[in-house]
Amino acid sequence: MKEKMGDWRRTDYCAEVTKEQVGQEITVAGSIAKSRNLGGVIFADLRDTTGILQLAFDDGTDREVFAKAASLKSEYVLLARGTLRLRESPNPAIPTGELELYVTGLRVLSEAETPPFEIRDEVKVKDDLRLKYRYLDLRREGAHRPIVLRSKIAQLIRSYYCDHHFCEIETPMLIKSTPEGARDYLVPSRVQPGRFYALPQSPQLYKQILMLSGFDRYFQIVRCFRDEDLRADRQPEFTQVDMEMSFVDENDIETMNEGLIKKLFAEILGVEVKTPFLRMPYAEAMERFGSDKPDTRFGLELKNVSDVVRGCGFGVFSGALEAGGSVRCINAKGLADKLTRKEIDKLTEVVRTYGAKGLAYTRWTSEAESSSFEKFLTPEEKAALRAAADLEQGDVLLVVADGKDDVVFAALGALRLEIAKKFDLIDKNRFDFLWVTDFPFFEYSEEEGRFMAKHHPFTMPNEEDLDYVETDPARVRARAYDMVLNGCEVGGGSIRINDPELQQRMLKALGFTEARARESFGFLMDAYRYGAPPHGGMAFGFDRLVMLMLGLDSIRDVIAFPKVQNAGEPMSGCPETVDEKQLRELSIALALPDKD
Ligand code: AMO
Ligand code: AMP
Repeated sequence: MKEKMGDWRRTDYCAEVTKEQVGQEITVAGSIAKSRNLGGVIFADLRDTTGILQLAFDDGTDREVFAKAASLKSEYVLLARGTLRLRESPNPAIPTGELELYVTGLRVLSEAETPPFEIRDEVKVKDDLRLKYRYLDLRREGAHRPIVLRSKIAQLIRSYYCDHHFCEIETPMLIKSTPEGARDYLVPSRVQPGRFYALPQSPQLYKQILMLSGFDRYFQIVRCFRDEDLRADRQPEFTQVDMEMSFVDENDIETMNEGLIKKLFAEILGVEVKTPFLRMPYAEAMERFGSDKPDTRFGLELKNVSDVVRGCGFGVFSGALEAGGSVRCINAKGLADKLTRKEIDKLTEVVRTYGAKGLAYTRWTSEAESSSFEKFLTPEEKAALRAAADLEQGDVLLVVADGKDDVVFAALGALRLEIAKKFDLIDKNRFDFLWVTDFPFFEYSEEEGRFMAKHHPFTMPNEEDLDYVETDPARVRARAYDMVLNGCEVGGGSIRINDPELQQRMLKALGFTEARARESFGFLMDAYRYGAPPHGGMAFGFDRLVMLMLGLDSIRDVIAFPKVQNAGEPMSGCPETVDEKQLRELSIALALPDKD
């Protein structure tokens, strides 16, 4: 049975019909989510992009139509025509639960085989299988809705920036590979053998050039590519909401984008976001939260107790301090009964993965006190530490010491999140926004053995710190800012350098020879010579923003066709080998290790 649409056209979307339409003749289109044949009566749920509408057939239904209804199976695609009426037994679980279509005509446009899994949110299906049959998975409300909402959010973003005098401009996808940043995806050139394009990691240089071209305000919702390892909040191709403005400082950019967030949250979620957001310098974020993207929805702040334990008899502490590091702690207030020895052992494993060598503790329950290190302290040192950490009965003190501050911060920052998750200390209904500001310009890379730009090399260093660029790079702060939401970096940006001499100087400090700087960024430095307005901007991780707005756990859930762990796309099966002929055209020979 396969019919044609003929002259039938949809008059209404399934989940958009209202009680006011009862009695009307309508036509709907979609696929069967489920059907129940009760003998004399048949009910079928018809699903379209908006949701579900129940179709009803009974002994008053035309016999031919009834017979067709009896043959309907899940995922059959059809047009149904009939009269909208009130249901006898409403279903409060769905928006159209009080209504149904009493069908007078049916056209079955496509039959369907039994799907490899049940297309229902409640049914758990392995990720790999879901993504292999993504076209089926996306029919499920829980997978479908985020994609629809993503489109609505994109539309609001466009209208917001356009209302504020921004111009949407597309920048190239085939660009020059530049050093710095993550690994590039490369695209070979056929016309120029041996040469490669890179796919953009971001439109950074182009948007700066657009400011020099006088566009004044630019935005783009743009795909970016980074050949990095995947995580729940990281995909090799992802989308940025990228923007840039001329004649501005940090505050102008922050305020403009706070306005955008306010609008999105009000219109999509009905949530009022308070502006201006908190501004927190990087140094404070690290001191208090051990992270440059602090989740401020709960306490468990870090405390530096280095001065209290300096020179104490516990070698782990005094040794760390002698090595130039620090001793810091978290007081897990009131958690002594829940945070058992066994739990502390598990947390010790967590901090170890961040490079910490251990986790010292004092646990003071209603019955007893136990400590892994207090025996090494004098009574005065012990009292001073307890006072500094505000340790009271019912609390657990967790301490990390290390010769490297970075290790202490990373370990305690992660510990804080782990405890909050484990003991359910996070209010899931909160949206905590803040700007983290005053980032360090340079970051030492152990892997590269040199200083790298923490944001990017085009970021303006803080004017007061310019004297340290050559002498003490670690002290130089950048005019960079990140927008953080609930402990996730949703966006980041900076005020840019607009002076070729300063750009040259910063590139030199980053280890570029003059020749290499010219080769990589000569066009930008030349452009600066012809009049460069002060400018700055930022980019949101669009997938992350949508994920957080919708309360989802992975950016995969807001991407129609996401990549998986091995950076492949399971439905189409890429990446894939190509023909010898294609490689020859590109002058490429493969040098794969021998398979054994
Ligand atoms: P940055 O590298 O911080 O800045 O990127 C901006 C935002 O993009 C998101 N993001 C990602 N999302 C998903 N998967 C990824 N692999 C991924 N990488 C980054 C993050 C991040 O905050 N050109 C600058 C912006 C500027 O200075 O204007 C840039 O790309 O949410
Ligand atoms: P040890 O002397 O190695 O038995 O360690 C005594 C206690 O100190 C244990 O609870 C360890 O987990 C803890 N510890 C060891 N190294 C560190 C460190 N770098 N920071 C904090 N605690 C540590």
